[in-house]
Amino acid sequence: MNMKTSLTGIKPSGMPHLGNYLGAIRPALRLTQTHRSIYFIADYHAITTERDPQKLQRQVYDVAAAWLACGLDPNQTLLYRQSDVIEVFELAWIFACIVATGQLERGHAYKDALEQGAPNAGIFNYPLLMAADIILYDAHVVPVGRDQAQHLELARDIATRLNHLYGEDTVVVPDALITEAPTVPGSDGRKMSKSYDNTIPLFIPSKQLRKEVMKFKSDSTPLEAPKEPEGAIVFELYKTLASEQQTQELASKLRAGGYGWAHAKEDLFQVIDAELSPLRERYDHFRANEAEIDALLLRGAEQARLIARATMSRVRKAVGIARR
Ligand code: ADP
Ligand code: TRP
Repeated sequence: MNMKTSLTGIKPSGMPHLGNYLGAIRPALRLTQTHRSIYFIADYHAITTERDPQKLQRQVYDVAAAWLACGLDPNQTLLYRQSDVIEVFELAWIFACIVATGQLERGHAYKDALEQGAPNAGIFNYPLLMAADIILYDAHVVPVGRDQAQHLELARDIATRLNHLYGEDTVVVPDALITEAPTVPGSDGRKMSKSYDNTIPLFIPSKQLRKEVMKFKSDSTPLEAPKEPEGAIVFELYKTLASEQQTQELASKLRAGGYGWAHAKEDLFQVIDAELSPLRERYDHFRANEAEIDALLLRGAEQARLIARATMSRVRKAVGIARR
C-alpha cells in the first residue's frame, strides 16, 4: 500500500467542545479515509502544565472516548497513549543534541510562558518531544490547527538536519497540514475556546445543549423585521453544520421578516443535536467502559512500538550508537 501516513497528537484536556470537533476532530477523521493514520494521546505533553494526577487520568479517557465516539475506528487508525511508547524520549534526546537552544528560545509557546513567569524546562523542550512524536512514526502529514504551525516547522527542520548530518534517508521529513476549517464562534461571538469559557461541550444532554444554544448573542431586531443572516453568530454557526439547502432556507426566512432569532436558534439547536445525538450515545458507552478503552489503547501501542523500534534502530545506527 502506497498510502501516506497522517499523524496527530491529542492533548488530554477533557471533553472536547464543538469548536474542537468542527476544527480538529472532524477534519482529522476525514483524513483517515485517504491516509494510513496514527493518532495518539499526548499525556506526557500534558504534564508540562497539569499537576492533578486524577484529573489527568480522567481526561485521557475523556478524549479517547470522544474520538472513538466521533468515529475513529481503532481497526483502521492506530490509537495509543504517547507514554506507552518510551522510545520517543530517546529520539527527543538525539534531537536535543542537534538543535540550537536559540531555536527553542524563539518558540511562541515558550515565549508566552516566559511572559507569565518562570516556565519549566518541559515547556522549553515541548517542541522536541513533539518532533519526536512525529518523526518516530515516519509521518508524512500532520493535521494541526494554525497555533501548531511553528512546532511543525521545527519538526521539519530537525528531520532535515538529522538527514543532512547522518544520511539522507534516515528519517521522513514531515509536512504540516494546517486545518483551514472556519473558526467556530462561541456564545459571546468570540472564538469558541476553553480560555473564554464560552464553549458548548460536545456530549452534554440534549436539554442542556438547547439551553447553551439559546445563550448565543443576537441583536434585538423585532420579530416582524427582516434580518441580515450573514455575519450573525447564530447563522455563521448554522452554516458549519447545516446542508447548503437548509442554509439557504434559513437565510431566506430571516430576510423575509416574521422569523425571529429565537426561531433561528431553535433551528441551530436542531442541526447540532442531529449531528451529536448518535455521538453522545457512543461517548456514554465508552466513558462507562474504561477497561475497553485501556485494551484498545494497549493494542494500539503494541503496533506503534513496532514502527518506533524500526525507526530507532535506523537512527541509532546512523548516529553511531549501535554496536558494530
Ligand atoms: P481551546 O481554545 O478551547 O483551548 P484547543 O487550543 O485545545 O482549544 O484546540 C484544540 C484543537 O481544536 C486545535 O486544533 C484548534 O485549532 C481547534 N479549535 C479550537 N477551538 C476552535 C474553534 N473555535 N474553531 C475551530 N477550531 C477550533
Ligand atoms: N502540541 C499539540 C497541541 O497542543 C499536541 C501534540 C503533541 C501534537 N504531539 C504532537 C500534535 C504531534 C501533532 C503531532 O495540540
